[in-house]
Amino acid sequence: MSDADYCNQLSSELEQKILEIGSDKVAAFIAEPVLASGGVLLAPEGYHAACLDVCRKHDVVYISDEVVTAFGRLGHFFASEKVFNIVPDIITCAKGITSGYVPLGAFLVSDRLLSTLAEKNPDSVFSNGFTYSGHPVACAAALKNIEIMERENILEHVRAIEPYFQQRLKELNDLPVVRDVRGVGLMACIECMDHSKNGELLADSCELARRIDRNCQSLGLLVRPIYNMCVMSPPLIINRDQIDDMVHMLRRGIELTLSELG
Ligand SMILES: Cc1ncc(COP(=O)(O)O)c(C=O)c1O
Repeated sequence: MSDADYCNQLSSELEQKILEIGSDKVAAFIAEPVLASGGVLLAPEGYHAACLDVCRKHDVVYISDEVVTAFGRLGHFFASEKVFNIVPDIITCAKGITSGYVPLGAFLVSDRLLSTLAEKNPDSVFSNGFTYSGHPVACAAALKNIEIMERENILEHVRAIEPYFQQRLKELNDLPVVRDVRGVGLMACIECMDHSKNGELLADSCELARRIDRNCQSLGLLVRPIYNMCVMSPPLIINRDQIDDMVHMLRRGIELTLSELG
């Protein structure tokens, strides 16, 4: 199936689901631009734009979950518009907004959504509050973080280093246990076989990535093990030498794991 056909199939599945539930009962659709914890899964090109069209057609609010992808991971403050060509109604974000130094989450609401609410009722209040909403310390950390990212041209650096990061990781495809190496920006996943040579599912497919993680850790590299996948989100300031070290340690960690498993 071509990417375009796959994309059509997926967006019509969404439309069918909305129709099945009843569009007046569906408040919002939420999607990550890149499915991070699922193993850095990239949707076919045009998927997000097609889903946004379906949402617009049925008056469903489109929320882009950019908790992982915002604030530089894909080389832009927000990935939805710059990388995936969509303007969502709401964007959620966290993590990179303070580079993780202080906990902070945020959500951004589009002018389109706010003006729609105001049109329906000019006196309406967009009410949303938490105990620590707009906490001054966390917000000060976020503002300083954004200032540093701009001052040190971090987004430009991510865009410049991304091809090298992705290309070097792809070299690991030559290891027989590696099934797929994929990624975008500074996020990547090495998916390993979860089948033994005779085609049976390994007794514990989580064990493989856990062992790779353990071996990599002993060499000085942290990876995130998810089932049979190793997921990485390195610091945005990573340089070429560090990428070389990282790929070297990953290769060694995977080889050590294979020799352990016989
Ligand atoms: C894509 C995504 N969305 C949401 C969350 C949850 O974010 P929070 O803990 O800030 O609510 C996470 C947490 O890792 C995430 O990866």
